[in-house]
Amino acid sequence: MSENCKTYYLTTPIYYVNDIPHIGHAYTTIIADVVARFSRLKGIDTFFLTGTDEHGQKIEEAAKKRKKSTKEYADEISGKFKALWDEFEISYDKFIRTTDPEHIKGVQKAFLDMYKKGDIYKDYYEGHYCVSCESFVAPGQLVNDELCPDCGRATRIIKEESYFFKLSKYQDRILKWLKESKPILPEAKANEVIRFVEDGLKDLSITRTSFEWGVKLPKEINDPKHVVYVWLDALFNYLTALGYGSDDESMVQKYWPANLHIVGKDILKFHAVYWPAFLMSIDYELPKKIAAHGWWTRDGEKMSKSKGNVINPKEVADAYGLENFRYFMLREVPFGADGDFSEKALIDRINNDLGNDLGNLLNRIIGMAYKYFDGKISSENVEKYYPTELNEAKEIIGTIEEKYLWKMQTHKFLEELWKILSIGNKAIDVYKPWELMKNGEEEKAMALLGLIANLLAMTSVYLYAVMPKTTTKIAKALNFEINTKSFKEVNDGELLEDFVIEKIPPLFPKIEKPLMKKKEVVKEPDNIITIDEFFKVELKIGEVVAAEEVKKSKKLLRLEVDLGEGKPRQIVAGIKEYYSPDELLGTQVCVVSNLKPAKLMGMMSEGMLLAAKDDEGLNLIRPEKRKKVGTPIK
Ligand code: MSP
Repeated sequence: MSENCKTYYLTTPIYYVNDIPHIGHAYTTIIADVVARFSRLKGIDTFFLTGTDEHGQKIEEAAKKRKKSTKEYADEISGKFKALWDEFEISYDKFIRTTDPEHIKGVQKAFLDMYKKGDIYKDYYEGHYCVSCESFVAPGQLVNDELCPDCGRATRIIKEESYFFKLSKYQDRILKWLKESKPILPEAKANEVIRFVEDGLKDLSITRTSFEWGVKLPKEINDPKHVVYVWLDALFNYLTALGYGSDDESMVQKYWPANLHIVGKDILKFHAVYWPAFLMSIDYELPKKIAAHGWWTRDGEKMSKSKGNVINPKEVADAYGLENFRYFMLREVPFGADGDFSEKALIDRINNDLGNDLGNLLNRIIGMAYKYFDGKISSENVEKYYPTELNEAKEIIGTIEEKYLWKMQTHKFLEELWKILSIGNKAIDVYKPWELMKNGEEEKAMALLGLIANLLAMTSVYLYAVMPKTTTKIAKALNFEINTKSFKEVNDGELLEDFVIEKIPPLFPKIEKPLMKKKEVVKEPDNIITIDEFFKVELKIGEVVAAEEVKKSKKLLRLEVDLGEGKPRQIVAGIKEYYSPDELLGTQVCVVSNLKPAKLMGMMSEGMLLAAKDDEGLNLIRPEKRKKVGTPIK
């Protein structure tokens, strides 16, 4: 597949700007960066796209909550994503924003083309919607009749006029594509999507009218109250980034179809079902591969803001080194499975894999090269003395790309590379160059160092995409360069010739204890409510027009409170110890007026009075000046 490609186009999802980047976003982006770097190293003309997804109800509400204009808020968070990727030296070729005018134009063109084709019709949507996932949820998929099956949050019922896309029309073609082209990686994840399609695809609502933050419909359709559904808008970024819908579509010609969309498992359906259907509708080729990774947890727990355990990737990189962090993320978790972040696991990887296996092998060869050969190593007799070791290593190099890298099995890819290191470490222990030297077998000892230098070179070239700076240092210590030429040599099984070793300080000093600052976990209190929830409580000014003690009760008074509703309400209040009926008569009080009526000592109570109570007693809360009865309290 990819090795024969002339061009390679890969993408990350575009990130919602309702929150700052966390480890999950960093993971997707870093995997994509590794693939992009590997592809470029092979000499393939590569285009790597990332960006931000900025429209939709979720973003509009997030901005409102922070009292910012939606655009101002989107600019701020989009800037944070871009700044982090720049700091992490992510080698993206374009950072797209869905608020870019060129993107908006492209989405409108796609919408119009689908409309003209007869794939879009106007109707009415009534049903459940999950704002967090920005997805419509069919009644059969709801959990407990109201929760989103993907994120577990409460859905909202929406009823609005909407344009629909004829998704059902494409069901058979999508199914055929999924089964025959096998675009999903890991392949095991395909079954779920296939089942979803086999269960029957319903037409998809693709416009909304109850908010404004989105792409307007093309003017030719002339229906200004609708905005395009955020997923349709977002998915088209993969084409608009190449200039689709603009005057210059040469990049589309060059790079489309995408070779790889990397996504999280939660958004696979959108990419493997909706996206191909949209593309079929506009008669574009379908992406070659869609790779879905799992989710990161922290110390075994789901990350969430309320738990205060969300991992900030910058903090990890600052404490342990960006490239060590990259290695850890790719090595620790089988692609597709969920992974757990713990500092302990990260430290183990750095000390063992990087320090012991890689760093030590380099230190050993530097030490021996100087001790025995004045820093100069030749590859001349490697094949003569160590054919088995060399062939084993070449065999690994010959297979890992196809078998693991292009299939996104990054953990396997690294595991196999580490086998090459262990061939080297084992060869030193078995052949003992110090004894060879003692026995006068200098040629064999030199060949052994030649073997080790070549094994390190092979590993560095293949590891370059994961740890570009570290491997460049290793290459410098061995006096060669990592580039397309050396990649090809290693790939063809050729030995690099002679090495002039340069002493460098150890690359992976041992880490003795966790390095991330322990943060005071500021937990969001469990009792936080939203402003909408607060406004559900109706508070009104009332006047006590009748009051009497409830016989047999130490605590209760029976009051009649006028709320300006024509008839006073009966409220039974536990204030007998603090107020006499007389002193309450004619006074004003604050009443919770939409409380569900409840029976107290057999009497119906139709509201509740606000009061403050401490060690010194209880005081009713009253307006500072008299107000008209029924005045709402806000
Ligand atoms: N905006 C959409 C994608 C549109 S693509 C046309 C979106 N954005 S997101 O910001 O919510 O998520 C982006 C990616 O981050 C997804 O692939 C998601 O799976 C990934 N992750 C979010 N939290 C994650 C973890 N805890 N762990 C790993 N990845 C996770 O969805």
